[in-house]
Amino acid sequence: MLVLPGGVRHIPDYLDRAAQEALVEDIRAVVQAAPLYVPTMPRTGKPMSVRMTNCGVLGWVTDKERGYRYQPTHPATGEPWPAIPQRLLDIWNDVARYDAPPEACLVNFYTADAKMGMHQDRDEHDLDAPVVSISLGETCLFRVGERTREGRTVSFKLKSGDLVVLGGEGRLAFHGVDRIYPTTSTLLKNGGRINLTLRRVTRPDAI
Ligand code: SIN
Ligand code: FE2
Repeated sequence: MLVLPGGVRHIPDYLDRAAQEALVEDIRAVVQAAPLYVPTMPRTGKPMSVRMTNCGVLGWVTDKERGYRYQPTHPATGEPWPAIPQRLLDIWNDVARYDAPPEACLVNFYTADAKMGMHQDRDEHDLDAPVVSISLGETCLFRVGERTREGRTVSFKLKSGDLVVLGGEGRLAFHGVDRIYPTTSTLLKNGGRINLTLRRVTRPDAI
């Protein structure tokens, strides 16, 4: 059996096909209001292979000039991000074990050749809340490690409808996506993979 690092939960098949389809419709509406854009790395300006957008009162963005951060508006349109759909809030309430609602949902879109390097999610002030990740569309190879880059890592596949929760001692675990497996899902008409991550950014007691 695969032993995951402490605080890392994988919940396979959390969403059935109907729930996945409903969520894709929600995300379609989000993307209409807040178009996917190509994020760039801090300092180098190197484009990421994943396209991104957000919903929620805050969204995670990155660009050459200002680096990784949360902000209340879309970097290209200047508009506030659309609200987090109720279906996503319901998932958070079911699995997060945290009283306050998420403030940001990062939407990542992967084409067949996209990947994401190993990183920590550490731009949030509230590290007591977990990060809840939802996979839709094609299967990917996900890798998760420990709180240092040098730590042991384990790899496993994430299928459409799977959840990953990084909480507690797993909250700052390094993680990334090594590859997408094309044609492994019929959920998205044109293929690809969507990953949604729900995050609490501010500490509830700081409001
Ligand atoms: C992320 O770490 O932002 C994305 C993880 C994933 O795509 O599964
Ligand atoms: Fe991440």
